[in-house]
Amino acid sequence: MNDDEDGLEGVVAARTVLSEVDGAAGRLVIRGHSLDDMARHWRYEDAVALLFQGFFDSLPDAAGLRVALARARREAFERLQPNDDAVLRMLPPIEAVRALLARLPDGDDLATALRLVAAPAVYTAAVMRWRLGVQALAPDETLPQAADMLRMLHSRAPAEAQVAALDTYLVTVCDHGLNASTFAARVVASTGAGLASAVLAGISALKGPLHGGAPGPVLDALDAIGTGANARAWLENAVANGERLMGFGHRIYRVRDPRADALKGALRRLGAEGGVNAARIELAEAAEQAALAILREKKPGRALETNVEFYTALLLEALGFGRESFTCVFAAGRVGGWVAHAREQVKKGRLIRPQSVYVGPAPEEAGAALAH
Ligand code: ACO
Repeated sequence: MNDDEDGLEGVVAARTVLSEVDGAAGRLVIRGHSLDDMARHWRYEDAVALLFQGFFDSLPDAAGLRVALARARREAFERLQPNDDAVLRMLPPIEAVRALLARLPDGDDLATALRLVAAPAVYTAAVMRWRLGVQALAPDETLPQAADMLRMLHSRAPAEAQVAALDTYLVTVCDHGLNASTFAARVVASTGAGLASAVLAGISALKGPLHGGAPGPVLDALDAIGTGANARAWLENAVANGERLMGFGHRIYRVRDPRADALKGALRRLGAEGGVNAARIELAEAAEQAALAILREKKPGRALETNVEFYTALLLEALGFGRESFTCVFAAGRVGGWVAHAREQVKKGRLIRPQSVYVGPAPEEAGAALAH
């Protein structure tokens, strides 16, 4: 076993009907649907209905699911406690949302699943409002999830273009093969622990900057770069210092991440009326081009392209999400995939338990070392 294998690169650890990540072609298929089509036309509820098919008894259609999810948002909201704002506003938002999710009861049924899919949208908005010193807003059960998430955050009805952009985002990230957080969720589900435990494993894995924690730092980098003219020098210096450029590279994609294109398209459609700042996009495009050129020069052995996180940062910023909340919004989309994968794993009924290769000292060597 070599160091690359420590990251399980190339290892097939599950068979799934949920999604296919074709790294060579730069293509993502979710249960037979191409992401390019889903990202433009689907609402998040449609994607959840697709992911959940066959994993629950008496699953409602997408319209019924919308109603059930709205009810589940209200239930998640009602679980907030009077002191939560004071305690949780001190934590990074992803940790606050994780703490609130940890209170949800475990189970393997549809009600548990819907509560878990509804809760991150409600808790992200609540936590971000608490940080501003204002009260959390109760969900509006007449709205679809993306519209309600924006309303709960900003306390006003969002424009249709903004809702469409958030739906594009949530659908784009809803599932992605055996990524680190989904794998973590499947491992926990395989022990029979329940869906809430699996989702907590997922959100904990998502938090790291090598996975779902990258988009906030993408904006930090753009702020530090400041102008397109400064992009090359700044990024070169970062790579020379051994830093990774956030929003670039992927374990599976060896060509451009198709999700980056889906989100870039959403930004274009959202436009200036939707809050997109043209100067920001110009800077981002200059930084993207400089980063790609530098990565080609400095890492000629790897194909490092723009990943989903780069345009996530720009889209969520335009929708008015604070950068500290980006990973929470990611969780609000990916949770549909975590739950579906957890159910798929439970249905297989097989504990995930790989082996390790011991490379430590033999007992006699360890004993000898202690004696000295
Ligand atoms: N910037 C600079 N160098 C990089 C980058 C990057 N973004 N990505 C990979 N490399 C370098 C590594 O330092 C390493 O170089 P070395 O061999 O000289 O040590 C080499 O390329 C490894 O490349 P890979 O094997 O392709 O990378 P790996 O599969 O280990 O990592 C990862 C993938 C974690 C996404 C990586 O590209 C990275 O850290 N990117 C930045 C963080 C990021 O954008 N994360 C979000 C990913 S998308 C998602 O999870 C939703």
